[in-house]
Amino acid sequence: MSDTVLSLDAVEKVFPNGVRGLAPVDLTVRAGEFVSLIGPSGCGKSTLLKLIANLHGPSAGSLRWWGSDFRGVGQKGRRLAFVFQDATLMPWANVGRNVRLPLDLMGVDRASGDARARTALARVGLGHAAERYPAQLSGGMRMRVSIARALVTEPDLLLMDEPFGALDEFTRNRLDEEMARLCYQDGLTTLFVTHALHEAAFLSSNVMVMAAHPGRIHARYAIDRTIVRDEAFRLSERFAEISRELAVLLEAASHESHLAAEMQT
Ligand SMILES: Nc1ncnc2c1ncn2[C@@H]1O[C@H](COP(=O)(O)OP(=O)(O)OP(=O)(O)O)[C@@H](O)[C@H]1O
Ligand SMILES: [Mg+2]
Repeated sequence: MSDTVLSLDAVEKVFPNGVRGLAPVDLTVRAGEFVSLIGPSGCGKSTLLKLIANLHGPSAGSLRWWGSDFRGVGQKGRRLAFVFQDATLMPWANVGRNVRLPLDLMGVDRASGDARARTALARVGLGHAAERYPAQLSGGMRMRVSIARALVTEPDLLLMDEPFGALDEFTRNRLDEEMARLCYQDGLTTLFVTHALHEAAFLSSNVMVMAAHPGRIHARYAIDRTIVRDEAFRLSERFAEISRELAVLLEAASHESHLAAEMQT
């Protein structure tokens, strides 16, 4: 289908030491979806995200990006961006320069780079902070800069691996609301790894609950896209219900992972 961003067909990953990071995984992501990967440690969330970012290749199966192989991403003018758990900013450069970096690498001229960096910073509520240095920012602000640096290339697919894990709950909730706006209002397709069930319940249109030994998708859970992801939703009975249902699925996935680990030993 034309709105298919990603399709994974029986994708497996076996590491050189023999560890089966991922058993066959099938996954389709469509434009505008917010897909979360949750599951116990070691279930292959990062492995899956890195396969999708083409940071490593599959041992078996096939991945397609907008219907093509990875070379087609650039050829079709599509872009991926990756946000890691750590903001990884250049300490000697101010915020504007940090955000401009991907454009510098693409050879975009300085004036348009600066303008686009300011726009990206404004999208994460940091329009005023371009002249500041990373050491002058809070952890939440640094993470916002990291998101702005990902947004500055106007990606078609944003990959995030536990981006808010190190933040306090209040800051994390605010950033989750910003992420929800980027996806549900601006249409940014996002794949998001998190350990936090409530974060997945708040943000996702689709949740992949993964199990370990080997890593695989244990259950898929869809959430109505039309829900407005705001503070009222967080306090609603519907949110509590989604969280409860995800907790049950996660508990079952963890239980299966433990059983599988015991069988392997
Ligand atoms: N480069 C590697 N070489 C060998 N084994 C690896 C490698 N990378 C990951 N693994 C193994 O593959 C499995 C999946 O790892 P992965 O990092 O994807 O898990 P995860 O779900 O992201 O866990 P966490 O929640 O702790 O980040 C684990 O058993 C891990 O030890
Ligand atoms: Mg991980």
